[in-house]
Amino acid sequence: MKVWMMMAMLTFTLLGKAQQPIYKEPGQPVERRVTDLMGRMTLEEKVAQMCQYVGPGHIRETQKRFKGQKIAKGDDANGFYPNLSVNQLLELTEKGLVGSFLHVVTAKESNDLQKLAMKSRLQIPLLIGIDAIHGNALVSGATVYPTPIGQAASFHPELVERISREAALEVRATGAHWTFTPNIDVARDARWGRVGETFGEDPYLVTRMGVATIKGFQGKDCQGTEVALACAKHLIAGSEPSNGTNAAPMDVSERTLREVYLPPYKAAVEEANVFTLMAAHNELNGIPCHADRWMMTDIMRGEYGFNGFIVSDWMDVDRIHDLHHAAPTLKDAFYETIDAGLDMRMHGPDFLEKVVELVKEGRLSEAQIDRACSKILEAKFRLGLFENPFVCLEKTAQTLSNEEHLQSALEMAEESIVLLKNENDLLPLDFSDYKNILVTGPNANNHTILGDWTLQQPDANVVTILDGIREIAGSAKVNYYNYGDDVRQNSMDKVNEAAAIAKKSDLAIVVVGENPLRYQKSKTCGENIDRMGLDLLGTQNQLVQKIHETGVPTIVVLVGGRPLSVNWIAQNVQALVQAWEPGSLGGRALANILAGKVNPSAKLPISIPRHSGQIQMIYNHKPSQYFQKYKDGESTPLYPFGHGLSYTTFAYGKPSADKKVMTADDTISFTINVKNTGTREGQEVIQLYVSDKKSSLPRPVKELKGFKKVKLAPGEEKAVTLTIDKKALSFFDDVKHEWMAEPGKFEAVIGTSSRDIKGIVPFELR
Ligand code: BGC
Repeated sequence: MKVWMMMAMLTFTLLGKAQQPIYKEPGQPVERRVTDLMGRMTLEEKVAQMCQYVGPGHIRETQKRFKGQKIAKGDDANGFYPNLSVNQLLELTEKGLVGSFLHVVTAKESNDLQKLAMKSRLQIPLLIGIDAIHGNALVSGATVYPTPIGQAASFHPELVERISREAALEVRATGAHWTFTPNIDVARDARWGRVGETFGEDPYLVTRMGVATIKGFQGKDCQGTEVALACAKHLIAGSEPSNGTNAAPMDVSERTLREVYLPPYKAAVEEANVFTLMAAHNELNGIPCHADRWMMTDIMRGEYGFNGFIVSDWMDVDRIHDLHHAAPTLKDAFYETIDAGLDMRMHGPDFLEKVVELVKEGRLSEAQIDRACSKILEAKFRLGLFENPFVCLEKTAQTLSNEEHLQSALEMAEESIVLLKNENDLLPLDFSDYKNILVTGPNANNHTILGDWTLQQPDANVVTILDGIREIAGSAKVNYYNYGDDVRQNSMDKVNEAAAIAKKSDLAIVVVGENPLRYQKSKTCGENIDRMGLDLLGTQNQLVQKIHETGVPTIVVLVGGRPLSVNWIAQNVQALVQAWEPGSLGGRALANILAGKVNPSAKLPISIPRHSGQIQMIYNHKPSQYFQKYKDGESTPLYPFGHGLSYTTFAYGKPSADKKVMTADDTISFTINVKNTGTREGQEVIQLYVSDKKSSLPRPVKELKGFKKVKLAPGEEKAVTLTIDKKALSFFDDVKHEWMAEPGKFEAVIGTSSRDIKGIVPFELR
């Protein structure tokens, strides 16, 4: 090669390098790339990163549905922007003035939007978020796993981590990068429609499941093209809303906040490094959560060291102005939220212009904008979006509902279904013993098993409960009686017809409960579907009663995300199963359990009250809670936290501790032998509760501090050890403002539920 040619090539390469900005060099450290890019951005471009909009497809759907009518309050989940057309939104995207979208539900739409973003001056890719709460279920064809309440019932965090890892792949395969999960609200009021998307009532269980979910989604270091950002939500305490209605105000003492609601967040930040947080709809102690500097800045960033970004919830920035009436104008609401520590507004126009004005007027500093913008950009670099913002459509097809994911969905469902009652061992069924089986009830043959945060899924992807039973029933004739899906419409005629068929049957399986499908008018639970009571709606109870009166052995299956006060059923029918919302293969999982192909192993992650008047019904209440008993009914739950039966039996030995006295720098371990004394393989969840015998402040009667799920073959015995440290013995002293473990006497209470106690070991902290 001639020398001049070599010189020219070298010059060209060097020039080329020099022209390539640092932020576009994949080999550069993320921090450097962020700084370089920020140095090139205008104020407007930086604020634009903080703006999120719903996807154009979602807007068009809404426009079609409402055909120009005004969307009523309460229907506001149907996002659209009255003063911004889809075309204008696309223009903003092309100019680099949109940072993020949500509810983009196809890979094609994601690619189209990214193409527009690539035309912008700095070619900053979009960050796309979606509510993949139990699989990427807002996307048609995705694997739908059981909802979080069922996941929690598995008491199997490793499995939760696995399905979250798979869900991350399905999220990325459809061009999204961020999921608004986990919901780590500690659910303390079953009237609230969102219980199904929580991990239940216990702070420790919620924490373990939350951490597992985040680790599954974000991987080891939240880096690369196979992980998705997680979002711990909702800050905070909206899960015990006054009157049970979503977004209602909460007044909570700092002590309860620290001991009940905050522990899952502390672990989400400190242990799982969650990259995003979402503020809650509600006000807390008189301050709308979106303007709560103490929570977002002092506690999350200051105390816990949160180092990601905080997104608002749907319309909640605006609601400071137009619902809480706590900001004179929308612009003031924008100011209050950013000043309090919020980084991104979901969703809508006006924010960009008004926030730029706020900086120019000196009310907000550019440093506040930089804080938000730099973290959003960091996420985009970490996720590899600058290298390739697009998704390959072939990958979408290969990933959604692939064999491996479906297998995990089945396993998760099998581990999430709780056997509440099984009188005279009606279960498991030997189907060959039955000739005519009646299957009926509003949830027997539809998609209600998929839960909330799902959009329509292809029928072929869903094994309904009826399908599952038919798959396994062999020569038994399965007669389905269509009782109708809408529980508010069901008449006594239907009940009588079902009972007439029951008379001619030798087994009845009645599937009742709730409808969590957000796209159906007949829904009875899920987001914004709160209830006054916890009884079965409509004629469902009569349906079960009439069938039972025929004398046919009856199994009742409950579907839905919230616990229901099914007192009559619990007292009268032989077998009762809580299936929650078991997902795409829920029908198969349930049938496998009914047939004994799978031995049930799930436990209740939430107490089932006898009556909504018992709310708040929690196992970890204070000692004085039932000092006075109800005069018109029991003061105990219908089924307690941690309850769940198996087809085998387990014998517990006498528990022991490795020491009698522990010190604050020490740990203490409890060991108990558990033996499978039945004839089938089974899994048992050994639960360790701690009870503080004397303390300077009243402590809960007991609190879960450890659990282990063990598999045992018939006759097999295992020693199970659970270890705690002083954290498990500590409480928050709100006068001194610190956690303290007070020396004194404690008990380790080991049980197969919070009520069925197998052994107690006293110990001391010195
Ligand atoms: C819910 C959030 C959800 C968001 C986006 C809100 O109404 O409260 O949990 O992430 O919508 O869909």
